Amino acid sequence: MSTLIINIKELLQVREPNVLKVSGEEMKTLPTIQNAYLLIEDDTIVDYGTMDNCEGITADKTIDASGKIVMPTWCDSHTHIVYAGNREQEFVDRINGLSYADIANRGGGIVNSAEKLQNTSEEELYQQSIARVKSVIKLGTGALEIKSGYGLTTEAEMKMLRVIKRIKKEFPIKVKATFLGAHALPKEYKENKDGYVDLIINEMLPKIAEENLADYVDVFCEKGYFSLEDTERIMEAGKQYHLTSKIHVNQFNAFGGIALSVKHNALSVDHLEELNDDDIAALKGSVTMPVALPSCSYFLSIPYTPGRKIIDAGLPLALASDYNPGSTPSGNMNFVVSTACIKMRLTPEEAINAATINGAYAMGISNAYGSVTKGKKANLIITKQVPSYNYLPYSFGENLIENVIINGKLIE
Ligand code: NIG
Ligand code: FE
Repeated sequence: MSTLIINIKELLQVREPNVLKVSGEEMKTLPTIQNAYLLIEDDTIVDYGTMDNCEGITADKTIDASGKIVMPTWCDSHTHIVYAGNREQEFVDRINGLSYADIANRGGGIVNSAEKLQNTSEEELYQQSIARVKSVIKLGTGALEIKSGYGLTTEAEMKMLRVIKRIKKEFPIKVKATFLGAHALPKEYKENKDGYVDLIINEMLPKIAEENLADYVDVFCEKGYFSLEDTERIMEAGKQYHLTSKIHVNQFNAFGGIALSVKHNALSVDHLEELNDDDIAALKGSVTMPVALPSCSYFLSIPYTPGRKIIDAGLPLALASDYNPGSTPSGNMNFVVSTACIKMRLTPEEAINAATINGAYAMGISNAYGSVTKGKKANLIITKQVPSYNYLPYSFGENLIENVIINGKLIE
């Protein structure tokens, strides 16, 4: 089955040859072709060019994209989209004056979500989660990393990871699974953190590896959650099972978690709302992608990750949603890109690079996703008629996506 898209006003993120990520100054450039066509064969991008070179090309199906932009789908490299219920009461509590930390300290927060998830059947958890997955696909997400971390018992963590595995199987988008057993301390281990880290290392990790349920391992490295020492133990244990790490770090405090993650060749370090010069220095020349989550900053009213500073230091930057019930109950990558422009002063080119090719890198899939490159998966957004690509982040909150193509097929 072949599909030809013609009269594309502008085709974005055309990379030939492919790149795996873009850094610093390179992020200012978004390569495009105006008045373009694009040819898809089955699930793969096989050709593109300007309309003058389109003559004689035929396909089973033709889509006219006059006045519209075509671009790669968003690669959302950090989500917790599998969860049970919601936490809208904590949202109201925060409006009434409690802080995110106050809520966690009185037994709310992540442990609250864990309790709900433990009491939800695997089938019900799957149903709740796929409603969210369907909605983010319609919003242009074509690749999704999903974390566990709302189970906090071996059984419940495995339940979450099995749900993620089922999503991987049932949905055409690319999904990567991350084991985040070290997300919070369960109540039963309140006085015995080492005991919980031992449980993660000696029981959870081996079982998860045996069923091949995870691609990556994550730790919430933060004051009041998991220390540098805990984080290092878990990263090292993960390596025994060939799990590269992706680390939640520097959300509220900067205390060396980035240098530690870089030392262990983490694929990404995520959050970074609190970032100092040592952290920037540690990231230079590393394989580790810094990931900003601006809709989390928006929702919690905490500082935005200094994305401008990161890019100006010559580093790469990825953008992701952090979709979760506590700090970011939204997986709308269009909002993420707008917010990065508005609040972090990224240019539209930088923000689109950060949410496509660099997002793909942060989930280890930029060889096949994140740009318009011959041989890559045909995962594409077709916008409504828009004046230019700048209009996408400018017109925040408006849904400008007309169609989404995943693996060469239009999503209905
Ligand atoms: O990435 N920071 C840690 N974990 C999630 C939020 C968890 C929650 O509040 O449920 C995050 O923001
Ligand atoms: Fe997160």
